Amino acid sequence: MSPAGRLWERLGGRIAFGGDYNPEQWPEATWAEDVELMQAAGVNLVTVGVFSWAMLEPRPGELDFGWLDRVVDLLHEGGIAVDLATATASPPPWLAARHPESLPVTRDGVRLSTGSRQAYCPSSPAYREAAVRMATAMAERYGQHPALALWHVNNEYGAHTPACYCDVSARDFRAWLERRYGDLAALNAAWGTAFWSQRYGAWDEIQPPRLAPYSSNPVQELDFHRFSSDALLACYELEREVLGRLTPQVPVTTNFMGLFEPLDYWDWAAREDVVSHDAYPDPEDPVSHVDAALAADLMRSLRLGQPWMLMEQAASAVNWRPRNRPKRPGAMRRISLQAVARGADAIMYFQWRAARRGSERFHSAMLPHAGTRSRVHGEIRALGAELGRLAPVVGARVPAQVALLHAWDSWWGLEAPDHPSTELRLADRIRDHYRPLWDANVPIDVRPPGADLSAYRLVVVPNLYLLSAEAAAGLERYVAAGGHLLVSFFSGVVDEQDAVFAGGWPGPLREVLGLAVEEHWPLAPGETLGLRGPDGTVLGTASQWTEVVIPAGAEVVAQLAGGDLSGGPAVTRHRHGDGVATYVATRPDPDAMAALLAAACADAGVDGPPLQAPPGVEVVRRGDAVFLLNHTGEAVTVPLARSAASLLDGTRHEEAVELAPGGAEVLAEPAA
Ligand code: GAL
Repeated sequence: MSPAGRLWERLGGRIAFGGDYNPEQWPEATWAEDVELMQAAGVNLVTVGVFSWAMLEPRPGELDFGWLDRVVDLLHEGGIAVDLATATASPPPWLAARHPESLPVTRDGVRLSTGSRQAYCPSSPAYREAAVRMATAMAERYGQHPALALWHVNNEYGAHTPACYCDVSARDFRAWLERRYGDLAALNAAWGTAFWSQRYGAWDEIQPPRLAPYSSNPVQELDFHRFSSDALLACYELEREVLGRLTPQVPVTTNFMGLFEPLDYWDWAAREDVVSHDAYPDPEDPVSHVDAALAADLMRSLRLGQPWMLMEQAASAVNWRPRNRPKRPGAMRRISLQAVARGADAIMYFQWRAARRGSERFHSAMLPHAGTRSRVHGEIRALGAELGRLAPVVGARVPAQVALLHAWDSWWGLEAPDHPSTELRLADRIRDHYRPLWDANVPIDVRPPGADLSAYRLVVVPNLYLLSAEAAAGLERYVAAGGHLLVSFFSGVVDEQDAVFAGGWPGPLREVLGLAVEEHWPLAPGETLGLRGPDGTVLGTASQWTEVVIPAGAEVVAQLAGGDLSGGPAVTRHRHGDGVATYVATRPDPDAMAALLAAACADAGVDGPPLQAPPGVEVVRRGDAVFLLNHTGEAVTVPLARSAASLLDGTRHEEAVELAPGGAEVLAEPAA
């Protein structure tokens, strides 16, 4: 059995339900009540120790595990399993007092201070040694404890300190560069240091891209992103090594943050036993559930469809936005069921009991300040009971026929300065591609460039600025073998060293796409052009970006109407081998984008959803179950082809499922 499998076996095959538990913030008299209330709410797993380092090691080397022993024992007696943090997310103040150099330094040279959290330089030997000592002590102390179900390494790596620009980081950056390039000549070539007198004659002349008079070298920036993701990953690996050695039987995770720019989660996820994710969709944003679905799909995809954990969400409001609205009644349930639909086998929260002190005292919790009779706690208990009935979906897969390509290094490169436009944001562009597919209830996996794509009927590539020869060759083979590919503008512009492809773009994809892009022609904010079919049919509008596209075999499907490039190709289609490759050289409006993607799905033979539902109703199949989530404020009816039973309460729906505004249902079997 896989280590992750052991976690759910430990939970009796049930969905994990619980949250961060910070008993050290409360008098010991509260703990027994906590456990009782957890039991009443159906909690079976809690995360302990995330920010406990200063309480566990009050002075350097002086360990005080007594209180944690009692907490873990108490939870165990109450039948609640423990996701035990290694407690290294926030070093105690003594670390900075003894090692001021362990505090992180910003790009403009400011050394950050203590009194908050995550105040450490990822490359700091003092931090790393202390963290490894702590992780070792935790593993030695609790490795055999029967309550221990999962290791939670650190917490949200990079959330506040994604990179450090101090001298220690500079030294590690140089070592990283030496490993990458071998010698200075190779570095000088890759970084293009012939430009602006940047040539390096010795390794120690190289610095992180600190605040400089003008633009920094783009490859120095890109490599520093790579290095910074790796520096934090090295911290994780140091702890993971200890845990793997001392407790090989216990699965290990560290919590991610969805589409989080600083860390290359493809690299990270490969080193975890189970992916876990923290999701805080904004209750004030009417479409935040679409972003939540995208993040969920990414989390499921990071380990090839393996079930993942929603490690943190808010029971209601958070404290860290300028205005923090509570979740409306039913919203927390619906968004939790959405996570399960999209592959989560754990629904957890930050946090169990609302804090009375500290920066997060206005953050909601499973047990709010208002107590057990509150609305929020009532919804928590009801959801705990419902999740208890969803055991049949545990371990089940979410099938997808469409893949969306995403790469972190390309993201870092794309959003760098000195481009034809600095107004492109990859997350927005991914949303432009994701939203129409979400609306159509087409399931999506996210894959890295270079992945095996043969299982997918359609591959969507939003703005893959940086393209390796290997990834391009993979895409060519995919199309030649009959695959359908849709590539959006400003893709295939540079290679892995950010060197611009010569001879037109998208560099090594020109042949597959049957065209060459000669010039990038960005549009001003608010500038909108028409999109017309070759016969003049109105297809919609285009904004943000246009390109001078020279077809070389590709057929023009849409043209620009108006603007400097009026009449030029906006969308093209090219047969290559047994497949078809579409290029989108602009940003179509949402309806035009939806039409394009619908045509691509039809062309590629992508199956429709298991049920046809009104707009705003999410339909997801997971294993044999079908989840229906009504994200609208209206009651809706979803017709059934044949009767189906509810997994949540056993109700038999004959001809249709009636969903209340914001309501949800889970059908036990495919009803189409
Ligand atoms: C997360 C963090 C938690 C808590 C939460 C509040 O980023 O991991 O510890 O701070 O946010 O929303």
